[in-house]
Amino acid sequence: MRTNKKIAAFVFLPVFSWIIFAGLIQSRQNTLISEKATTLLPNGKSISDQEKVKYIYVGMEKCASVCHNNEQMGFQYDIMKSGSHSNAFKILVSNKAAHYAKYANLKEKPRESLVCLKCHVTGGDLDSSFFASTYKKEDGVTCEACHKGAFITKAFIPKEADCLKCHNGSAHKMHKFNFKKNCAKIAHPRPVTKT
Ligand code: HEC
Ligand code: HEC
Ligand code: HEC
Repeated sequence: MRTNKKIAAFVFLPVFSWIIFAGLIQSRQNTLISEKATTLLPNGKSISDQEKVKYIYVGMEKCASVCHNNEQMGFQYDIMKSGSHSNAFKILVSNKAAHYAKYANLKEKPRESLVCLKCHVTGGDLDSSFFASTYKKEDGVTCEACHKGAFITKAFIPKEADCLKCHNGSAHKMHKFNFKKNCAKIAHPRPVTKT
């Protein structure tokens, strides 16, 4: 009888601890998701109302480091983080940037100038009231520059015209933009699910 109890404790304790642990993780994830939702959606608003309300940028970490960094999803966070869009703010201190700044007759530093930030940072031409505390301009051109609000509304996939808002050579010399080839260069697809 005694040993049976011991065996029962031996078997059930880890099982119960696991259930509690898994429950805690789940509730943490639920909180994260609802935090995201409330950052974007004022209470009581429906998803279609979202289109009409002011969009608040939450930044790359909050947007993607949790939900878009696993195998099923396709590690979009890691891919984009190591890609050139993530570097778009940082390159504003390069010699080349100083050269472009001189050419554009900038009075302030490129990192502080709306002239450069409007293309080198997500929401770069907006005032601070558009950004949640989790937003960081240092992250450069991020998920929300191309997929604004994707996790709340239907995923928005950018078209050529959306890229050309920045890839248009109006500010300085740049490569000719080929939509198909350039999409391939930044590819971060969702893996096809095996059946
Ligand atoms: C209209 C949008 C836009 C504006 C405004 C803009 N850039 Fe760029 N910039 C881009 C794009 C797009 C690229 C990458 C294009 C490519 O090389 O194909 C780029 C690339 C760069 C690069 C690295 C590539 C290179 O040419 O060596 C530097 C440095 C740079 N920009 C600096 C600046 C500075 C400084 C300003 C402000 C005076 C500025 N940019 C304003 C869109 C813009
Ligand atoms: C410079 C613009 C750009 C940025 C930045 C960007 N994406 Fe994308 N994303 C695209 C384009 C374009 C496609 C569609 C590619 C295609 O269909 O070939 C896409 C596709 C996707 C898909 C696949 C959608 C599907 O249904 O298959 C996911 C998921 C995604 N992006 C998530 C992210 C996340 C998360 C980030 C930030 C870590 C991010 N994207 C940053 C442009 C961007
Ligand atoms: C908010 C402005 C912005 C938008 C929108 C944008 N880009 Fe960019 N893109 C940049 C900047 C700035 C750079 C330069 C970053 C750097 O050199 O660090 C860049 C660099 C790139 C590069 C690397 C350049 C090279 O030739 O090596 C590719 C490829 C690219 N973008 C593709 C796209 C595609 C495809 C889209 C649309 C789906 C898109 N971009 C939308 C701003 C933007």
